[in-house]
Amino acid sequence: MKITVIGSGYVGLVTGTCLAEVGNHVCCLDVDPAKIAMLQAGGIPIYEPGLDEMVRRNVAAGRLTFTTDVAESVAFGEIQFIAVGTPPDEDGSADLQYVLAAARNIARHMDGYKVVVDKSTVPVGTGDKVRAAIAETLAERGVELPFAVVSNPEFLKEGAAIEDFMKPDRIVVGADDARAIELMRRLYAPFQRNHERILCMDVRSAELTKYAANAMLATRISFMNELANLAETLGADIELVRQGIGADPRIGYHFLYPGVGYGGSCFPKDVKALVASGHEHGHELKVLSAVEAANDAQKLRLVDKVVREFGADLSGRRFALWGLAFKPNTDDMREAPSRVIVRELTRRGAEVVAFDPVATHEARRVMGDNPRLTFADDMMSPLEGADALLIVTEWKAFRSPDFDAVRAALKQPLIFDGRNMYDPAWLRGIGFAYHAIGR
Ligand SMILES: NC(=O)c1ccc[n+]([C@@H]2O[C@H](COP(=O)([O-])OP(=O)(O)OC[C@H]3O[C@@H](n4cnc5c(N)ncnc54)[C@H](O)[C@@H]3O)[C@@H](O)[C@H]2O)c1
Repeated sequence: MKITVIGSGYVGLVTGTCLAEVGNHVCCLDVDPAKIAMLQAGGIPIYEPGLDEMVRRNVAAGRLTFTTDVAESVAFGEIQFIAVGTPPDEDGSADLQYVLAAARNIARHMDGYKVVVDKSTVPVGTGDKVRAAIAETLAERGVELPFAVVSNPEFLKEGAAIEDFMKPDRIVVGADDARAIELMRRLYAPFQRNHERILCMDVRSAELTKYAANAMLATRISFMNELANLAETLGADIELVRQGIGADPRIGYHFLYPGVGYGGSCFPKDVKALVASGHEHGHELKVLSAVEAANDAQKLRLVDKVVREFGADLSGRRFALWGLAFKPNTDDMREAPSRVIVRELTRRGAEVVAFDPVATHEARRVMGDNPRLTFADDMMSPLEGADALLIVTEWKAFRSPDFDAVRAALKQPLIFDGRNMYDPAWLRGIGFAYHAIGR
């Protein structure tokens, strides 16, 4: 099949590449000429395990191309995926300007049947807006052409995006047009050879499904963070509590890890957008408003512990920080808790020397103007003479460091662990003062 993907970011590039991998011909469009030039030159603008190689393979096979030319991209695919950003507007609602611009571009250039598939995360009712934008633009052109609008929200996780796309738990298709549904079934057939994974529904339910999924996951995190904070006061160990409740199949073990709060490009903005959507339609989503407030507070939890140890004024202190990305296996710094933590530590006068295995270039771009923050190329050098080590992202490389070397390098053996990476009793046994979350 011939497919166009509009927007070549984390979702668009993975979608386009995985669709090419199973034999389709895919044209990826982006408005960012630097991104497209990089892709055309064989580079990859994001870090995502396995993507590099898969892009190269499919480009070499002639199945994957990149362009900034809208007319060319619209002409290419019968199926047009929209995978552009939907950032929060000032009031927290999703800003649909990029989605609607992409829809109008399709309508401006199309000359036959198109299935417009919205893969971006969008509020309920966006399908109708996309349909109206296309109809309006076609009317301006004075032409009548058939098209369908489908909602196909994406559930991939950054850091495991290829695996998630190639072996999805479910493929949600929201559509009311039989021809479009048939095309989507054919498109996704290679991804469900083992068993049926497509859940067909109406467009509005598909749109809400995506927000509901992210809102539920964010809720579990905030719930556990609040319980962790309580466990600390009560003298309980949240890790044991987590295992104790996770064993119940109605609850399960996933997404119950307390920490420094959720970040990334999805949970924060999607929770906000769903709350805003509720507000707009006269429903106050009280649970989700609390989820957001709890998360904002949690991002400062590690700094609170540092302040308890060193006092409110941190001038003259230097801290080593491991992990900048909002989670392991990605370079995504959007809404990363590290940004709040570094801002607060340095606002209080501290110096921070940070290390991240892959996100340093992104971190430099978004927080490089902070004169009290420097970046290290390896994980051990920030520790030299530092007052303490703070762990913010649970990269595998941090799981079992050489603790003798850590102790020798630090001014004192003191660790603030925002990800509960280590066994507290063991670490204390070898002489560390260890502050984790909820233990
Ligand atoms: N990142 C994730 O893990 C993830 C997972 C599921 C869903 N989503 C959703 O997918 C959507 C995209 O997210 P992302 O993380 O890939 O964003 P991104 O910012 O990485 O990529 C979006 C791309 O779209 C391009 N773009 C904007 N307007 C365009 C236009 N009119 N024509 C062509 N290109 C255009 C931008 O230049 C950018 O490269 C969002 O709605 C997001 O909520 C993201």
